[in-house]
Amino acid sequence: MRSFLCEISMKIENPNPIQWQFSERASQLQSSAIREILKITQRPEIISFAGGLPSPLTFPVERMKAAYDKVLSETGKQALQYGPTDGYAPLREWIAGYLSTPDCKIVPEQILMVSGSQQALDLLGKVLIDEGSKVLVETPSYLGALQAFSVYRPEFHSVETDDHGLVPSSIEGLAEGARLLYSLPNFQNPTGRSLSIERRRELVETCARLGLPLIEDDPYGALSYKGEPMPRMLNMNPDGVIYMGSFSKVLTPGIRLGYVCAPLPLVRRLELAKQAADLHTATLTQMVVHEVVKDGFLNEHIPTIRTLYANQCQAMLDAMEEQFPAGVTWTRPEGGMFIWVELPKQIDATKLLDQAIAARVAFVPGAPFYANDPDTHTLRLSFVTVPPERIREGIAILGKLIKEQM
Ligand SMILES: Cc1ncc(COP(=O)(O)O)c(C=O)c1O
Repeated sequence: MRSFLCEISMKIENPNPIQWQFSERASQLQSSAIREILKITQRPEIISFAGGLPSPLTFPVERMKAAYDKVLSETGKQALQYGPTDGYAPLREWIAGYLSTPDCKIVPEQILMVSGSQQALDLLGKVLIDEGSKVLVETPSYLGALQAFSVYRPEFHSVETDDHGLVPSSIEGLAEGARLLYSLPNFQNPTGRSLSIERRRELVETCARLGLPLIEDDPYGALSYKGEPMPRMLNMNPDGVIYMGSFSKVLTPGIRLGYVCAPLPLVRRLELAKQAADLHTATLTQMVVHEVVKDGFLNEHIPTIRTLYANQCQAMLDAMEEQFPAGVTWTRPEGGMFIWVELPKQIDATKLLDQAIAARVAFVPGAPFYANDPDTHTLRLSFVTVPPERIREGIAILGKLIKEQM
């Protein structure tokens, strides 16, 4: 039976339409260049080297399904309830064990679960950055971090990098008054470069001497093609390093689960900031991920991801060797998801992208990855979601376009 109320319209008129007055902060928000490009590159005819998405072939769907089933049937009431802000205790314990080394024990109190490590960047910005604060970043750096920190209006200072990543000695003259240094030591997004062990030590020592908080963002560290992860800077100085980890690249990004390991005074502040943002990360997700990882599943799963990515990376490097003209240089990553290309200086990668898309190939121009003074002749290629034959086809098209510009 239809309710009588349904027949009376409850809608009111708007005689005075709202003139939205956004906060200064909101007015300055900008969409990430990558997200914009992704909208175009989702067209199936495009060979896209643009995305930073992990390969869906690696998602452990059956394993996750079984874990959801188990958690919901055995502990459904807890899984569907609100939970603590710092996260699901057994998962925090598992992470603390995973991050511990024989001479550096990490305790669960240092761990805060977050809704993707991207949230950690926002929370860190919220608790560490004031308007005009000095923030040190690599040149280039992860675009999503620049975007997250920008909301808090810092003054970015670019730290020098070379073929071996960040140059530790270059922070000496920059550190005075800086709130933090944001670093990506493993298979950096966007360059694919890694920091050597010697540089890690030097960086940690320099930051400790200068009293500079060092953020170690590490979503790709486990994806070392040789299978030998490099030592974490966290374990060299857990009192001065803020470590960010993620399940996005080793399980699946759709679950939005990451974590921060930070010194206790900071982790408490981050927890308060998270409480205000979203109360806590989904209980069900955390319980499911704990169910998946607790008995060593990652030890068998991660090697399958490494093998897939290593093959596709090699296919791309071989194709570039064949198709790219002299004068173009690129990185040779030993893990992770990205290759960084430097074109001859006169070629603007953003203009090249327009031609590439018309020829059905996409990549991300390098400029948005720079906090200051972009190198417009750079670009980022991702090989993880494209099978080898399509990689060869796409690189041949790109090589032809580059040659035409030279
Ligand atoms: C360097 C880096 N940090 C953080 C993130 C965010 O990852 P998530 O929020 O999925 O954990 C990404 C995603 O691509 C990344 O490349």
